[in-house]
Amino acid sequence: MRSFLKDTKEGLESSSSFASRLATKWLAKKIIFFRELTSTQDEIKKYIFTGENGLVVWADRQTQGRGRLSRNWYSPRAAGLYFSLLLKEPLARPLPLYGLATAIGVAKALEEVVKIPFQLKWPNDILLRGRKVGGILLEAVSPALIIGIGINVSFRREDFPPEIKEKATSIFEETGLLISRARILRAVLKKLEDYYELLLKEGFPALEKEWQERDVALGGRVVLRRGDQVLTGFSLGPSSDGALLLKTPQGLLKVHSGEILMWEVPGWEKHRAA
Ligand code: BTN
Repeated sequence: MRSFLKDTKEGLESSSSFASRLATKWLAKKIIFFRELTSTQDEIKKYIFTGENGLVVWADRQTQGRGRLSRNWYSPRAAGLYFSLLLKEPLARPLPLYGLATAIGVAKALEEVVKIPFQLKWPNDILLRGRKVGGILLEAVSPALIIGIGINVSFRREDFPPEIKEKATSIFEETGLLISRARILRAVLKKLEDYYELLLKEGFPALEKEWQERDVALGGRVVLRRGDQVLTGFSLGPSSDGALLLKTPQGLLKVHSGEILMWEVPGWEKHRAA
C-alpha cells in the first residue's frame, strides 16, 4: 500500500493524489510531507531503524537546509524541491556510486520533463548551462544511507543569497518555464528507482556512459579543492568506486572527496565552480 502523509496542526493526515500518479514499485511507497522542517535530512534520521527502504521525507521549506562541505542549502518556501530518501538494503555497491546514480537519475528526469540537456559535475552536482541547479548530500548513518536532494525550480536570480547568485540557477531562470514540483518529483523518483536497481544489478558500468555524456569536466583541466589542498590536473572522470581520477604532473591521483573549483574543456570557455 502506497501512502502519502501530510503534516497538519493536528498531526499527520493521509492524502493521495500525488501518490496515485507515482509509477515506482518500492521507492517512495511512503512519503511524508512537511510544510516546514529544519532539514529533511534531520527528520528522516528519526526513521533509520523503523522506516522502510525507500521512505521519502519532503518539505515545502527548510529553515536549516544543509549542503555538502558544511554549507547551507537555501530552501525558501515553494521555490524548490527539498527531499530525502532512506536507502536500507541491499547497499551492495560502494556508497559514492549511489551519489553518482542519484545525480544521473535527477539529470535524466529533468531532461525528460524540461526537454533540455543537464550536466553533471563530480561528485554529484547537477548543472544547467554551467550553473548549479541541483545538489545531493549523502549521509551514511548505519544501517541506512540517507540521500538528500535539492533542486532549484522557480527561484528568481534576485532571490538567491549574494554568495551564490553567480554560481546557482533555477529551471525557471534558464527556461522561463514554471514547472510543477510534484511533476518533477514524480519523474525524479521513477528514474532514481531505475538507476538504483541498475546499480545493484550491474555496478559501475551501468552508470559510466550516462555520467560521461553529461560530465562537464571530463578530459579537461580542473582545479580541485581537497581539504586544505588545491590540486590541478586533467579529469579522467569517476572510477569504479566513485572517486575522481585526476591526471597530475606527479602521476594519477584518486580523489575520494573534494570539490571542483574550476574546469576547462578544450575549446570551451573557462568556468568557475557552480
Ligand atoms: C550540495 O551541497 O550540493 C548538496 C545539497 C543538498 C540539499 C538537500 S535539500 C534536501 C536535503 N535536506 C538538506 O538539508 N539537504 C538536502
